[in-house]
Amino acid sequence: MTSTTLDAPTAQPLLDWYDRHHRDLPWRVSPPMAARGVRADPYRVWLSEVMLQQTTVQAVKPYFANFLARWPTVLDLAAAPSEDVMAAWAGLGYYARARNLKKCAEAVARDHGGTFPDTEDGLKSLPGIGDYTAAAVAAIAFNRRAAVMDGNVERVISRLYAIATPLPAGKPLMKQKVALLTPADRPGDFAQAMMDLGATICTPKRPACPLCPFRGSCEALRLHDPKQFPVKAAKKEKPIRRGAAFIAVTAEGDILLRRRVASGLLGGMTEVPTTAWTARADGETSTDAAPFPAQWEACGTVSHVFTHFELRLSIYRTAIPSRVQMDDGWWEPVTNLEAQALPTIMKKAIATAIPLAFTTLKR
Ligand code: ADE
Repeated sequence: MTSTTLDAPTAQPLLDWYDRHHRDLPWRVSPPMAARGVRADPYRVWLSEVMLQQTTVQAVKPYFANFLARWPTVLDLAAAPSEDVMAAWAGLGYYARARNLKKCAEAVARDHGGTFPDTEDGLKSLPGIGDYTAAAVAAIAFNRRAAVMDGNVERVISRLYAIATPLPAGKPLMKQKVALLTPADRPGDFAQAMMDLGATICTPKRPACPLCPFRGSCEALRLHDPKQFPVKAAKKEKPIRRGAAFIAVTAEGDILLRRRVASGLLGGMTEVPTTAWTARADGETSTDAAPFPAQWEACGTVSHVFTHFELRLSIYRTAIPSRVQMDDGWWEPVTNLEAQALPTIMKKAIATAIPLAFTTLKR
């Protein structure tokens, strides 16, 4: 693009683009239906938005379908046993979100008769619903004029206005711009259009600027450098923590599992016994910390990147004739592992010791 004068950005070209190029998503009402007044089910919108935080649409789709099949309404989810919800969430990560999901469903059932509040403030009063989710549900399910900004929207808006303040400091200005651009008519479609544009056209590495509905008004394109935005503050290197995980299997095919304490990282999820996870060089990473004495064989290491650190676990396994009586934990048939609330790091640990334990496991 060579022109030096830009049109002021407006919502209309984006909405026109969305009418033609929106993605069909299971929680979404298509623009022609929305134009006829059909609104998305707030439960589906809320569930999808919580699932989609830090995760891709592709990864979320099967989880969303499974949750809806098992718990078709917020009342069903509120009444479900927590362990079932955690097990169905296993693999999506960020498990505090699953715990909050359950608490929020319970609050909607108990305090609101099973109907979600229809304003941003009302939604924000629910457990686990922050600024982003409240705005997204208010706009998409209730057509409220709420400014919705996730990572995709940050990218689009920072390019459109060439906002050079690095993230996260640049967020308030970006939010202001989103709020100004959000139309009173079709705010829900606008929010979803911004997300779709960020996911399909205004992508991080190879933006398809010639196809973009904002191409006549994008400041970053005028500067010939959309990829420079959003500017991000330099990332700190993540510290490494280490530990050991112990996979004990009996001749009958049972594996020793434990439940993690309810609060904190992976709280309430299932695990194989592990040592503490420590950044200390002399931390426990050996069989001294095994749950019971046996012939423990080292069989590899697995690593997993959490928000604040990278974890590297040394994996040990043992095959024993029969169950050892434990104060902490239980013995579970290996054939029943898929139904357990095992986070991905634990699935990787088990798969290292028992290669065929899972039929589906991302590596
Ligand atoms: N990412 C997060 N929420 C989304 C939505 N409602 N539509 C498309 N992508 C999304």
